[in-house]
Amino acid sequence: MGIKLSNRVQRMEPSATIKLFSEAKKMMAEGIDIVNFGVGEPDFDTPEKIKNSGKQAIDDNFTKYTVTSGIPELKEAIIKKFKHDNNLDYKPGEIIVTPGAKAAIAEALAVICDLGDKIVIPAPYWVSYPTQVKMVDGEPIIAKTEEQNSYKITGELLQEIVDNEGQVTGIILNSPGNPTGSVYTKDELAEIAEICYANGIVIIADEIYEKLIYDGEEHISIVNTNDKIQDLTIVINGVSKAYAMTGWRLGYAAGPSEIIDNMAKLQGQTASCVIGISQKAAITALEMEDSEIQNMVDTFKKRRDFLVQSLNEIEGIECKMPLGAFYAFPNVSYYIDNTDFNGTDELSQHILKNAHVAVVSGKAFGMDNHLRFSYANSMENLEKGIQRFKNCLLELI
Ligand SMILES: Cc1ncc(COP(=O)(O)O)c(C=O)c1O
Repeated sequence: MGIKLSNRVQRMEPSATIKLFSEAKKMMAEGIDIVNFGVGEPDFDTPEKIKNSGKQAIDDNFTKYTVTSGIPELKEAIIKKFKHDNNLDYKPGEIIVTPGAKAAIAEALAVICDLGDKIVIPAPYWVSYPTQVKMVDGEPIIAKTEEQNSYKITGELLQEIVDNEGQVTGIILNSPGNPTGSVYTKDELAEIAEICYANGIVIIADEIYEKLIYDGEEHISIVNTNDKIQDLTIVINGVSKAYAMTGWRLGYAAGPSEIIDNMAKLQGQTASCVIGISQKAAITALEMEDSEIQNMVDTFKKRRDFLVQSLNEIEGIECKMPLGAFYAFPNVSYYIDNTDFNGTDELSQHILKNAHVAVVSGKAFGMDNHLRFSYANSMENLEKGIQRFKNCLLELI
């Protein structure tokens, strides 16, 4: 007799990026030379001094359970980071350290969502948001954004959703954004904050790409735009992207103590705590000057410039210049409208099989006429991959 699976897991979809990565890996294992534009992690090594802190923690036998919400020294470092980078004040009881930013978002959603509670997610979105909402029995309300607004939700659109949907429990905002690289301005955030405050909507502000920002753009936290919104906002951040520490699994959240306490209650019954070694290493990361990661940011910028220019040179492709993160999100509708492919899932499969280039379908991000390229890859691979991609597309027309 088969095992009965819960409705919960049956509602969930496997992460599209992880699925693509496993397919590309399988082909690589067969000896095929794949250029992988699918990855969502920096291709740099974790900086030496962060690694040394981790090694030191092992040598010091800092290898036991820690307090669930994070060791006090790390919380202090997070509080200092918020003050220094964002001019925000938090107390230790308003901070939780989590196994990655992903876990922080999942916990936050579990704390605010009951059956059928509505969570607004601007599309295109990071692949995990809608599934995470469904995981806690919430209802994702997908807000389709416009390309001409750089794929950002406007106050007007949010107000329209509130008017149509009635009670909205929360919204997930991501700036700088994955997959678009869009960065919200202070005025745009202020408008959204105003509506959220007026309607008691909890904001989950995913700021994981805060430090990967280009062209002199400034990262603004939504909490800075309205003096009443801190009590309604859960700010999500972590060390994965800025310090090339994806595998250390360390994120954090800051928000009202009532929410943070309940996230800790959940975490205490699931992960228990974040690995102590990672917590020690994260203190070193957060104490680093931005100048120490500038080299990585400059390298990403050079790659972005090359990739976006190369994409725009391909017939029929339009790619907006992303201002942050490490993704380009070109519009490829020309190659959907003028071929027999049924959407970008099929197009990206064709490109993987024929050009040996892995790119993620826009469908996975809620916008099916785009593809997502990660430029967390060497310049050599970017050049090789874009040439193959271009040849493959041109053969279709
Ligand atoms: C927008 C966004 N938020 C959160 C995460 C998760 O980061 P972490 O590695 O800290 O779980 C990612 C990772 O790809 C992301 O792109």
